[in-house]
Amino acid sequence: MSSIMDRETFADFITMKINFVWEILFLFFTVMKEWTLAIIRFFFSPRIKSVKGEIVLITGSGHGIGRQLAVEFSKLSATVVLWDIDEEANSITGEMVKALGGNCYSYVCDVSVKEEVKKVAEKVCKEVGDVTVLINNAGVVSGKNLLDIPDELIERTFNVNLLALFWTTRCFLPSMIKKNHGHIVNIGSSAGLTGLNKLTDYCASKFGVTGFTEVLNYELVFGGHDGVHTTLACPAHVNTGMFEGCKLRFPSLMPPLEINRTVRRIMLAILTNQQMVCTPRSVYFFAFIKTFLPVDVMQQILKFCGVSTFMDSFVGHLENNFQSSESKPYSNAELLNSAKKSG
Ligand SMILES: NC(=O)c1ccc[n+]([C@@H]2O[C@H](COP(=O)([O-])OP(=O)(O)OC[C@H]3O[C@@H](n4cnc5c(N)ncnc54)[C@H](O)[C@@H]3O)[C@@H](O)[C@H]2O)c1
Repeated sequence: MSSIMDRETFADFITMKINFVWEILFLFFTVMKEWTLAIIRFFFSPRIKSVKGEIVLITGSGHGIGRQLAVEFSKLSATVVLWDIDEEANSITGEMVKALGGNCYSYVCDVSVKEEVKKVAEKVCKEVGDVTVLINNAGVVSGKNLLDIPDELIERTFNVNLLALFWTTRCFLPSMIKKNHGHIVNIGSSAGLTGLNKLTDYCASKFGVTGFTEVLNYELVFGGHDGVHTTLACPAHVNTGMFEGCKLRFPSLMPPLEINRTVRRIMLAILTNQQMVCTPRSVYFFAFIKTFLPVDVMQQILKFCGVSTFMDSFVGHLENNFQSSESKPYSNAELLNSAKKSG
């Protein structure tokens, strides 16, 4: 009796070992396959997907990156749904989209308020249809030392930059999973990979966006939802006015990014289902060296580059200065005119 048991236990043991060896071999081949595909993608442009007829919802579409994304998506014949807390600014984006012959629906929505997000999301589903591309772009910055930030500004930063992603994604992801078709795009930041002085709340919220997107991607991949994609965009300083006044030590080497170029790079990432895009490429470099350099060494390098003084001359969006020419590379009228011309 006991010798039969021993033989069965031994057979189980051998089967387990063989299965484990198979798993290791399988892992090796899949890793090699993914590496080969990544190298091919690096040298040859991957296939660009069509977004014609897709319903693209953009939060914070009233200004900057969000507005330009709306324009670019409408040029590609997508229906754009514009969400912003600022009704007037959002309606200008709507006019720009319509001037291009685009199809758009504008809604006032404060994405930091969970109940409002749910209410407006239901309205969108009824009036427009199921959202197939969600772009979590709305963001705010307070730009003060930790001890100087009023409590309510800290809460606002987390509510808008991070918690809003939970509320919007939970509203629109179920229909994407059901159809196994969709894309969640989160606009993070280089400050969500490498910290910057006087941005404790902003960096913490953007590091959160990085983690949120990474885990959402795992849930989709491990859940077998291969038709639903995620993209995390991590731009450095973009010339939208959000970080007005901020300067690195060598501005000619690392000037603020131009909105149009940044948005074109983000668009390319979305249209090729790229999971993460950093712009400029130096963002990848700093994020990489940070993983192995001693903390003190990294601090000295960042200090040399002017990271410690980047926020010293921060002005940001002054009260209602979305209209000020200083805070924007283009005025609303200029943008509208250029949209009409290119349309
Ligand atoms: N500008 C940069 O240098 C930079 C760099 C890296 C990442 N980012 C990120 O890119 C995104 C867009 O930045 P931007 O520079 O275009 O900003 P922006 O300030 O030009 O525009 C942000 C838009 O979000 C809207 N908004 C703010 N709070 C909102 C709320 N509670 N609900 C709905 N809408 C709200 C504003 O009204 C505005 O229209 C943000 O998430 C930002 O953190 C910006």
